[in-house]
Amino acid sequence: MPQSDLSFNKLRDSIRQALKTWYEAGSEASPFSDLRLFQQNQWPNGASPRQATNQILLEALTELALTHQEGADLLRKRFLDGLAMHAVAGRFNIGEATAYRRQEKALDRLTHILHEKEICLRSVYQTELEKRLDLPPTVRLFGIEQPLHRLRSRLLAPEPSWLLSIEGIGGIGKTALANSLIRQMALIDRFPAVAWVSAKQHEFLPDFERAQLATPALSHDALIDQLLDQLSPGVSFTQPPSQKRAILSQHLKQMPHLIVIDNLETVADYQTLLPLLRELANPTKFIITSRHSLQAQPDVFCCTLNELNQADALTFIRHEATTRGLPLLAQASETDLRRIYEVVGGNPLAIKLVVGQLSVLPLPIVLANLKQARGKNAEAFYSFIYWQVWQLLTPISRQALLVMPLAHNPTLEQLLALSRLDLAEISEALDQLVGLSLIQAGGNLETRRYTIHRLTETFLLTEAIEWPNSP
Ligand SMILES: Nc1ncnc2c1ncn2[C@@H]1O[C@H](COP(=O)(O)OP(=O)(O)OP(=O)(O)O)[C@@H](O)[C@H]1O
Ligand SMILES: [Mg+2]
Repeated sequence: MPQSDLSFNKLRDSIRQALKTWYEAGSEASPFSDLRLFQQNQWPNGASPRQATNQILLEALTELALTHQEGADLLRKRFLDGLAMHAVAGRFNIGEATAYRRQEKALDRLTHILHEKEICLRSVYQTELEKRLDLPPTVRLFGIEQPLHRLRSRLLAPEPSWLLSIEGIGGIGKTALANSLIRQMALIDRFPAVAWVSAKQHEFLPDFERAQLATPALSHDALIDQLLDQLSPGVSFTQPPSQKRAILSQHLKQMPHLIVIDNLETVADYQTLLPLLRELANPTKFIITSRHSLQAQPDVFCCTLNELNQADALTFIRHEATTRGLPLLAQASETDLRRIYEVVGGNPLAIKLVVGQLSVLPLPIVLANLKQARGKNAEAFYSFIYWQVWQLLTPISRQALLVMPLAHNPTLEQLLALSRLDLAEISEALDQLVGLSLIQAGGNLETRRYTIHRLTETFLLTEAIEWPNSP
């Protein structure tokens, strides 16, 4: 977690400012407005910014008094009782210069207390975010500074745009960018709560029957249910849909939420969801990821992702090679890497798949194969890459891969049950599939979860079944 975002000196200035304005009751802005401590005090209690600010100061002063009674008393007299420094010095029987020095020391200690509390709160928040939301794992991203900056400043602004879209072709990094955005500390400070809804609906399917895979699109009601579920976990909402909609709307109007709707394009008539999002927005903001552009919608701020440029693509290839334990590729000459870029381009998912192939095959063969696909559109290019990778898979890996779409981010136990492979076989298969970038292992130490990319899933469901040697 980027704790360095919380500067000690800045916090100290804010505390001094907050103490100085102790009695400014009507003040709308708080020097603490960026702190989770503040959000925690203000939103749930409906406190005014001033009340929330003073509450934070009071609690910190009480804590300070436990270890440094005199410092806490001095600050109270000076700021809460509003005494001039010479009067404070008189009460403590010390000179004015000494009183100033002690005030600064006490301010330092007060800052330490709040700094520690805030860092602790942020870390709890981060952990809960991971636990509560089904987020993709964090990975290092390349070449996204510009879109990240554009979106970040739009999101931080207190005014429109309320709806922002990240758009671009499959595998270009829309979900990855949204994931990186909502973990940005500045945004965590700006939005007290975050939700993440995948418009693509997953259902656990007991048997591998393609007919059952026609999953329902995200309806208005399903979206409302999912958001209520994430924002008020544990509360059961048994009301009729119209009432649930009103509850949610009230919730989202009360304080700014940041909500991601991933894969909006999978909703067949996705444009019908937009009026609902507009109704729920302000002060809440929505980030939508979509392969379709929303540029026709005048109120949506659109950010189109393009392929990585050559420099970023090369850095990414080296990075992938390093993390996959492929030192020869990681240290390959710029000329060799450029040969890859010239054929593959700068689509991050395509790069990952090709690097996966390079863990098994020599570069000239991979490139010669890929050249056959040059000039094809993105979909056909992916199809080609997947077909190449498929050839490298053992029958057991194919069997394991084909059951992946049957469960949402399956665990090892689910994979064992679905594939009917034994532990040794599934371990071998996972090893190969992870190595080839077809599967990503996530979850935690206790429970590993395995994920495939949507494009991999699409190809498995539409093409792999028809490919030769499918089990
Ligand atoms: N800029 C980047 N740098 C490094 N890796 C990236 C970058 N962008 C995406 N990736 C990786 O590439 C893969 C594809 O990205 P992602 O899933 O975000 O694409 P997408 O645009 O959401 O695709 P889809 O339209 O299919 O949902 C992921 O494994 C992701 O971690
Ligand atoms: Mg995506």
